[in-house]
Amino acid sequence: MIVARTVDGVRAALADRRGGTVALVPTMGALHGGHRALVRAARGACDTVVLSLFLNPSQFGDPADLNGYPRDEAADLDAAGAAGVDLVFAPTTDEMYPPGYQTWVEVTELGRMLEGEFRPGHFRGVATVCLKLFTIVRPDVVVFGQKDAQQVAVLRRLIADLHLELELLAVPTVRDPDGLALSSRNARLTPAERRRALALPRALATRDPDEARALLEEAGLDVDYVAIPPFHPPTIAAAVRAGSTRLIDNIPLETEVSR
Ligand code: PAF
Repeated sequence: MIVARTVDGVRAALADRRGGTVALVPTMGALHGGHRALVRAARGACDTVVLSLFLNPSQFGDPADLNGYPRDEAADLDAAGAAGVDLVFAPTTDEMYPPGYQTWVEVTELGRMLEGEFRPGHFRGVATVCLKLFTIVRPDVVVFGQKDAQQVAVLRRLIADLHLELELLAVPTVRDPDGLALSSRNARLTPAERRRALALPRALATRDPDEARALLEEAGLDVDYVAIPPFHPPTIAAAVRAGSTRLIDNIPLETEVSR
């Protein structure tokens, strides 16, 4: 597996692979089983699999959230190698946002609802870094988790609006046996918070925002929103806080989920 730290390094490493197809799996590290599912989907779709490891500061409004994000590059490189990634792009912040950087992309409507309301500027950071990664890697296919349903909706809009020649593959959410969606943030939950957090998938399984909100509040979770936003496929989505940890989850409305 090749590890490139610079834009030039990625382009050089991919130069002789352009005859085949390239998939990109963008991540911020802290790789888990959900990321492994993304790599598997990428591997199934393309000849070359590139995984980016970049903790993107521009999508974090709250410095405490950024500073508390788990970082272990050595473990992430091991996990990427074991998952069969061909090339890891792990740039520094300066490589992605050099001094003087001032270009930003915004998906206005989809980027401002739900997560965008509670985390202003979040999707501006996501859209900008993803467009940069797409331009650097020039993938045929980009792979994202359906767990971040709004991110998928925002990026599909960006790809359509900017006429980008790439396909977005959304991979179904991977869950622990108890139903909790895999997330790098789960590591921050105390055992008691994790037990309370299990109300999140159960509440979404009602497919009813009012019923779901009542269940979440009953479980002692602080609810930021429960909604059926204008995403395709139709989805019920929620964000809650268990102690200081913020969790999001969603289920496509046509999916069978046990309650
Ligand atoms: O989903 C994530 O991990 C991030 O939002 C992404 C897509 C890697 C952009 O930084």
